[in-house]
Amino acid sequence: MGKFQIRKFLIPLLLLMISEYLQTGDAKSNSLFINCGSSSNETADGRKWIGDLTSEGNFSVGNLGANINASTATLNGDSVFEPLYKTARIFTNSLNYTFNGVWGNHVVRLHFCPFPFENLNVNDSSFSVSANGLRLVSKFSVPNEIAYKNMEFQRSGVNSSSFSLIKEFIISVNSEAFVLEFSPSEGSFGFINAIEIVPLTDEIFGGSIDKVGGSAVTLNVSERGTETMYRLNVGGPVIKPTQDPDLWRMWEVDSSYMITANAGSEVHNSSNVTYASTNDSIVAPLPVYETARTMSETEVLEKRFNMSWKFEIHPGFEYLIRLHFCELLYEKARERVFKIYINNRTAVESFDVFVRAGGMNRAYHVDFLEPISSKINTLWIQLGPDTAAGAAGTDALLNGLEIFKLSQNGNLAYIDRFNALEESKGNSKSQILWIGIGAGLASVVFLAVITFLIIYFCRIRRRNFTKKNSSGWRGGSSHGGTVTNTYARGSVGGGQSVFGTLPSVRVGKWFTLAEILAATDNFDEALMIGVGGFGKVYRGEIDDGTLVAIKRANPQSQQGLAEFETEIEMLSKLRHRHLVSMIGFCDEQKEMILVYEYMANGTLRSHLFGSNLPPLTWKQRLEVCIGAARGLHYLHTGAERGIIHRDVKTTNILLDENFVAKMSDFGLSKTGPALDHTHVSTAVKGSFGYLDPEYFRRQQLSEKSDVYSFGVVLLEVVCARAVINPSLPKDQINLAEWAMKWQRKKLLHTIIDPHLKDKYCPESLKTFGEIAEKCLADEGKIRPTMGEVLWHLEYSLQLHDAWIRTNDAQSSCAVDSEGAQTEEQRLDLDGEEESSNMKASTPTDHSS
Ligand SMILES: *[C@@H]1O[C@H](CO)[C@@H](O)[C@H](O)[C@H]1NC(C)=O
Ligand SMILES: *[C@@H]1O[C@H](CO)[C@@H](O)[C@H](O)[C@H]1NC(C)=O
Ligand SMILES: *[C@@H]1O[C@H](CO)[C@@H](O)[C@H](O)[C@H]1NC(C)=O
Ligand SMILES: *[C@@H]1O[C@H](CO)[C@@H](O)[C@H](O)[C@H]1NC(C)=O
Ligand SMILES: *[C@@H]1O[C@H](CO)[C@@H](O)[C@H](O)[C@H]1NC(C)=O
Ligand SMILES: *[C@@H]1O[C@H](CO)[C@@H](O)[C@H](O)[C@H]1NC(C)=O
Ligand SMILES: *[C@@H]1O[C@H](CO)[C@@H](O)[C@H](O)[C@H]1NC(C)=O
Ligand SMILES: *[C@@H]1O[C@H](CO)[C@@H](O)[C@H](O)[C@H]1NC(C)=O
Ligand SMILES: *[C@@H]1O[C@H](CO)[C@@H](O)[C@H](O)[C@H]1NC(C)=O
Ligand SMILES: *[C@@H]1O[C@H](CO)[C@@H](O)[C@H](O)[C@H]1NC(C)=O
Ligand SMILES: *[C@@H]1O[C@H](CO)[C@@H](O)[C@H](O)[C@H]1NC(C)=O
Ligand SMILES: *[C@@H]1O[C@H](CO)[C@@H](O)[C@H](O)[C@H]1NC(C)=O
Repeated sequence: MGKFQIRKFLIPLLLLMISEYLQTGDAKSNSLFINCGSSSNETADGRKWIGDLTSEGNFSVGNLGANINASTATLNGDSVFEPLYKTARIFTNSLNYTFNGVWGNHVVRLHFCPFPFENLNVNDSSFSVSANGLRLVSKFSVPNEIAYKNMEFQRSGVNSSSFSLIKEFIISVNSEAFVLEFSPSEGSFGFINAIEIVPLTDEIFGGSIDKVGGSAVTLNVSERGTETMYRLNVGGPVIKPTQDPDLWRMWEVDSSYMITANAGSEVHNSSNVTYASTNDSIVAPLPVYETARTMSETEVLEKRFNMSWKFEIHPGFEYLIRLHFCELLYEKARERVFKIYINNRTAVESFDVFVRAGGMNRAYHVDFLEPISSKINTLWIQLGPDTAAGAAGTDALLNGLEIFKLSQNGNLAYIDRFNALEESKGNSKSQILWIGIGAGLASVVFLAVITFLIIYFCRIRRRNFTKKNSSGWRGGSSHGGTVTNTYARGSVGGGQSVFGTLPSVRVGKWFTLAEILAATDNFDEALMIGVGGFGKVYRGEIDDGTLVAIKRANPQSQQGLAEFETEIEMLSKLRHRHLVSMIGFCDEQKEMILVYEYMANGTLRSHLFGSNLPPLTWKQRLEVCIGAARGLHYLHTGAERGIIHRDVKTTNILLDENFVAKMSDFGLSKTGPALDHTHVSTAVKGSFGYLDPEYFRRQQLSEKSDVYSFGVVLLEVVCARAVINPSLPKDQINLAEWAMKWQRKKLLHTIIDPHLKDKYCPESLKTFGEIAEKCLADEGKIRPTMGEVLWHLEYSLQLHDAWIRTNDAQSSCAVDSEGAQTEEQRLDLDGEEESSNMKASTPTDHSS
């Protein structure tokens, strides 16, 4: 570690200099590259970067930032920007970079490279950035973002990790000054290493945009502001900023985003590529079009697969997806006709690049608009043969791909759910306070009257309602309103603020008891799908025909009440693909009822043993374990303090109609330890056979207790037997002990579920057994985190997938025939949904 010097500079608030930065002229000379926190100019990546402490810049910096010389020891030389990352400007107060005379559309890039500061821990930094009022990032933690990025790299098998982060935005400036406003979160600080501002001489988002499943739209994209999420040179090498010298864009390779990289082979031909439209030279540099990925030659087998790319994206935004094409092989039309799918829906049928681009070697692109719901965080792009088109070649091709996130109400920042929750809590608190102060005495009296009336009304109704009353659930509020906002604000008339008894934040619909009775046929026992200490679970159908699971607390059970409240609170905070989501609740008439999404395939346990259901394949088992691990990983890390599930077992892992696994039952969950503690002390709860012995001994709970239980689940999945089976010989009663004995001898395969015999990859099982063994380590400290478990499970699945592919290739009859069949059934299902729900759009040909 080197020594760092901190010097604080007081920069005059007023402008240092205003330039005659004009819109006309060549983009290169009008670009601004700024080396933050430095008084020297640097050359990096073929460009000259001006120190923001030099008084010669065409911009001004607001007050009071500290600038710091950084240690670059951690940089590992991974970046051509290293000279710029030696310094940063740090701010503990809001800081403005003001650029004068900037006009029109610009590419803005922000460079962040965290490094040790003298007395500030960069892990605690948190800040927001706005550009002329457009929020770019919010509560932004650079180390977290980088860790996440590296996790994604690792997940997709890329052998690299990054130490810095570049965020790119495209912003339209139509005011005198362009102000980049950096503000630290309360009590925190922020930093910035370098800034690029590159003018766009032409409109980069011109023309109409096809909407998946709808008609084409025209949208002023630049005006709205976008963030570049991905930019790939498909089937080719990295294109570095220096190879795209108008806009200095970086084009990554695509293979790590592909689902099966060998489903596409690379082609290139740089001899004669030109732009289909003269206006397009700004859209992408020619090298993007000179390489492509086409579907692999699989002469023997019929080409029945897609080339698929999968991307992590921020939920709840609209995305512009830009695909770049250039036909490099075929010299006439109808040789290569294919379909494009976005998130499993057909975006275009009979796509013929030759026809659309007007010939071979013509660079062409097409844009799609795809709104992403707040529940989805992945985007799938798939290209596949269009067998119906009857083309000579049923082959697909892609040259480049870009994904831009569009701003929503002046906001591009993706604040994770937990932050959003905190913010909405803050808002509702202040709203209530404001109402309280503002409304005055008159309304207090008014509210009292209303309250009295409501209570009186409830009493009458309660008297009329037969049976079922006891000490149980408190204060009945009688209303059936729908809370539509996910993070519901307190509504004064809604009972919640008046009574002040319910958890302050709730999700979902408020059901009336009448609705619940109708949905469950007056709690018909025939609809019962489960029963537990808390009460019974029914299958129900709510008015729009949606199947739901309805969990009704036993009003006699005090413990049930506490668990119910925990569950409602937890579920209100958590939304995740691998957590069972709550649709709503009912708290009328002392009832405490929760309504969940219906999980058609029930518990994982029921698919392992003790029922007549067909056994799961090894691949399915791995996928279920991966899903459950993801859910737990999210619980442990998604929230600020983490949440410990405390009751991980195969009956709490539910499967939906597609066998997607989701964690359920948060009744025992606990918020994790505060940062300075490693555990929380609590009375021992959980299920026998899954219980962490360390937790049992020391009564100290940590995430690692869930990891232990998950290890037991893994063994149950392999052996398909109960975790405790008293009817077995003594040494076999406890699954964890018995299976670990075999695992330690590397003989786990000898006790595997007989249904799996010869249908799994031995290497995959070996990895799997090793993970289970690590999870079951006696000491919590030694056990892996759920994140690590997840990676290893994914690796195990990769091994198995590869094994299936080689087996398929060797003998035309698939060894894992069951698995293959299920896959196909699933695809067919998708296809059906698609044809019934969506109309495919075929945009008009531009060129023929
Ligand atoms: C950073 O280090 C360089 C060379 O060691 C020195 O000239 C410069 O003054 C330092 N800058 C700051 C802000 O400390
Ligand atoms: C300021 O802008 C002018 C005109 O665009 C340009 O010639 C000059 O090089 C710029 N100065 C710097 C320091 O970038
Ligand atoms: C940095 O570059 C600017 C613009 O080209 C120039 O005016 C200034 O003198 C340079 N500063 C140093 C320290 O070289
Ligand atoms: C930064 O700019 C914004 C918008 O122009 C302004 O509201 C804010 O007061 C400025 N902050 C500082 C510290 O100058
Ligand atoms: C920041 O967090 C990372 C990962 O959690 C850790 O490796 C690193 O040591 C932390 N840095 C500091 C300065 O605390
Ligand atoms: C990762 O890359 C480094 C250097 O490029 C190399 O030494 C190492 O062997 C690679 N590791 C793997 C697992 O490929
Ligand atoms: C988009 O909006 C900006 C600013 O309002 C305007 O200058 C530009 O001409 C618009 N572009 C299109 C294609 O309408
Ligand atoms: C290159 O393209 C031009 C126009 O598209 C065509 O006239 C010429 O023959 C092509 N050259 C080669 C080598 O194909
Ligand atoms: C590249 O394209 C040109 C026509 O533009 C063609 O003549 C040549 O054969 C192609 N090369 C390869 C290797 O396909
Ligand atoms: C190119 O851009 C100009 C002006 O923006 C427009 O008038 C023209 O139609 C465009 N040409 C094509 C081929 O799109
Ligand atoms: C699309 O299909 C894949 C499997 O083919 C699935 O994993 C993914 O979740 C689906 N995406 C959406 C948005 O439905
Ligand atoms: C390609 O993907 C789409 C969308 O996910 C799916 O409907 C279709 O069945 C897939 N085609 C093949 C051949 O797998």
